[in-house]
Amino acid sequence: MEGYGMRNLPREVIIKEVGPRDGLQNEKEWIPTDQKIAWINMLSNTGVREIEYSSFVNPKMIPALKDAREVGRKIKRNPNVVYSALVPNMKGLEFALEAGIDGASVFMSASEMHNQKNINKSIAETYPVLEEVIKEAKAVGKRVTGYVSTVFDCPYQGKITPEQVLEVCQRLVDAGADDLSLGDTIGTAVPTDVEKLLEVLLKHFPKEKLILHFHDTRGMAIANIMTSLHYGVTRFDGSVGGLGGCPYAKGATGNVDTNDVLYLLHGVGIQTGISERKMQQAGLYIQNLLGKQLPSRSLAYISNA
Ligand code: HMG
Ligand code: MG
Repeated sequence: MEGYGMRNLPREVIIKEVGPRDGLQNEKEWIPTDQKIAWINMLSNTGVREIEYSSFVNPKMIPALKDAREVGRKIKRNPNVVYSALVPNMKGLEFALEAGIDGASVFMSASEMHNQKNINKSIAETYPVLEEVIKEAKAVGKRVTGYVSTVFDCPYQGKITPEQVLEVCQRLVDAGADDLSLGDTIGTAVPTDVEKLLEVLLKHFPKEKLILHFHDTRGMAIANIMTSLHYGVTRFDGSVGGLGGCPYAKGATGNVDTNDVLYLLHGVGIQTGISERKMQQAGLYIQNLLGKQLPSRSLAYISNA
């Protein structure tokens, strides 16, 4: 890493809005399909360049997203937005392709126990499943992102080493994944953890391939994003209003609020192409639908202004 100063910050960052997927998957409240679609359409007009709109997983495990196929068919697609969805296996890929995706997000965990709880397989059993999904998705021209969860801490196993993460990342890239999304699933990392991981991964993968996916359980996500920016990382996930969490990771709370990320990035002079005002409106819309205050500093701030 060359120095640690404002001069090294990138000029532009790409944010993927994962609220309709990571945000809603953890919610007990059922959001009617039409309202989900209206929300995704609002997000599509914020200037955001990527939206993860749903999950093609076992609906018994994630009931909040059981309408993924209808959502995918009915959202109004903005040609400037890349629409992706979570895909765990070939059945999920088949449904996702029918519904329409630009990108498939496959996912597994660097921790054996979280992988088992989340997708009902060992890490070794997961590789062939995802390798087939990646191969087929690439064969039909889709971009593939490989999510790796619990890259810092696992709620069941504790600390995960950068070497464990590297091994999973390498297998996904060898299988053909275009990008890697590194998940701080339970939101416990601090900036030195991020440094240690990036020091290892950036020896093996170009920075353009890496996406950082922070949950904000301990309020460290913005500090962790700032640290990642100094390493040249230019791609981050956010969930508007700070919605989110993995129901199969004890203690996982919301993702970093996209609005906080925008406030940071725009404040330090980094472009995103996203309108903060429109993103806040999208946050208020889903907050009203869920009928509860979201864990969002920015929404609380504008509501009280
Ligand atoms: P399994 O139980 O091992 O699979 O599930 P199975 O093949 O035995 O199937 C069981 C049932 O699921 C069958 O139905 C299948 O048809 C159905 P039944 O006979 O019982 O009626 N099924 C499906 N239905 C629809 N679409 C599918 C599909 N696949 C099977 N694609 C599986 C394996 C992976 C599918 C399951 O464990 C699952 O769906 N897990 C998803 C868990 C999940 O979505 N977790 C949250 C997302 S990950 C996350 O949040 C972390 C992330 O944000 C990054 C971070 O923060 O770290 C990405
Ligand atoms: Mg997540």
